[in-house]
Amino acid sequence: MDKIVIEGCRPLKGEVAISGAKNAALPLITATLLTSGWHTLHNVPDLRDTRTILALLASLGAKWERQGTTVRINSDKIENFEASYDLVKTMRASVLVLGPLLARLGRARVSLPGGCAIGARPIDLHVQALAKMGADFTLEGGYVDGSVKGRLTGSTVYFDIPTVTGTENILMAAVLAKGTTIIKNAAKEPEIGNLIDMLTAMGARIRGRDTDLLQVEGVKKLRPAEGVTIIADRIETGTYLIALGAAGGEAKITNCDPSLLPSLLEKLRVAGVEIEEGRSWIRVGRTGHLRSIDIKTMPFPGFPTDLQAQIMALMTLSRGLSVITETIFENRFMHVAELRRMGADIRVDGHSAIVNGHGRLLGAPVMATDLRASASLVVAALAAEGTTEISRVYHLDRGYEDLEGKLTRLGAVIRRVKETQ
Ligand code: EPU
Repeated sequence: MDKIVIEGCRPLKGEVAISGAKNAALPLITATLLTSGWHTLHNVPDLRDTRTILALLASLGAKWERQGTTVRINSDKIENFEASYDLVKTMRASVLVLGPLLARLGRARVSLPGGCAIGARPIDLHVQALAKMGADFTLEGGYVDGSVKGRLTGSTVYFDIPTVTGTENILMAAVLAKGTTIIKNAAKEPEIGNLIDMLTAMGARIRGRDTDLLQVEGVKKLRPAEGVTIIADRIETGTYLIALGAAGGEAKITNCDPSLLPSLLEKLRVAGVEIEEGRSWIRVGRTGHLRSIDIKTMPFPGFPTDLQAQIMALMTLSRGLSVITETIFENRFMHVAELRRMGADIRVDGHSAIVNGHGRLLGAPVMATDLRASASLVVAALAAEGTTEISRVYHLDRGYEDLEGKLTRLGAVIRRVKETQ
């Protein structure tokens, strides 16, 4: 297992280009299961998770090829309908094949994901909604096995909680269903807008983009998507913004979309980070002290849970008290113990972490526990005095393309070493 070693306390400087969004690429790739023909997706990041979803599609019978950031996928022959435990346990987003497979083949067998480092994360809302659309489900041997005779039927679906992949699964199921599907309390994350644009380009009829009320009029046939572009990764963008705030210095972040980060940009400004934004770039810098701010994670356009760990690392470097409340996942504070190893003063009280910022962190050996927790350790390490060794970095490889290369070009002293067991 590799580890990353960072010599901290060096201001960053230069330019960094943002990759396509992991959480948009995953559903857009599974949407190619809906119809035969060659689909073309641009700006697809080359990550562990995108490799995993492409391997899953190949195991179902699809073919794919990559040229740079363009991926072409052909789903003419989908003969298998099972997402195995081996794949789902490495990436929960594998459940995104459930909706498309039921719509295309009338059959899907997907391993139940089980709990993960950030919470229980069930898929009951996905299953209930698909059952309302006429699918029958059995649960056996850890797999949900769904089947439908003929086509799914449009229905009105209400989500108790606005679930991101749940909304995506139902959208993909509904586009080929008989009649109209209405999704109430749908998630509004920008990655869902990206999926709606792709499905629309394929001939789907969807109304309500960017709202919590989606209306899908099912069609009999779709055509392949030709040339759909994955949106910029707002979480990668946010991670670099926060890293700049932590390490100090000045940089330009390009290929990004500042309109996808309304809450973070505002919070960073209040915290004392200087930000100037254009249509597809953000200039970020910090010279003065950081001010402490309170954060509460919320569905989009609120503060993203996927940036909670990183902003917590930043707050340990401020002076004063900061209360960070996690409302999306019940167990997303695994990074707290690791940040404490670097000298942070953080107390967890229920769903809130109280950070007593005292302006500095010290390098230490730490362990990555999940993707965003790992990113928070990188943020902390860049600002910490001395050397930080982060082990289990395979988590980072799931969601950050060329992290070492991008940070090195910003002037960070970072290297990857093979860990001897
Ligand atoms: N939930 C249920 N039942 C369900 C579905 C969700 O109770 O059937 C609960 C979850 O347990 C959670 C809440 O609803 O408490 C919201 O979860 P959601 O379903 O929205 O999360 P997700 O779709 O599994 C996506 C992202 C996550 C991101 C969350 C929240 C993808 C592939 N994953 O997960 O991204 O944190 O939305 O924004 O889009 C990451 O990239 O590091 C990551 C974890």
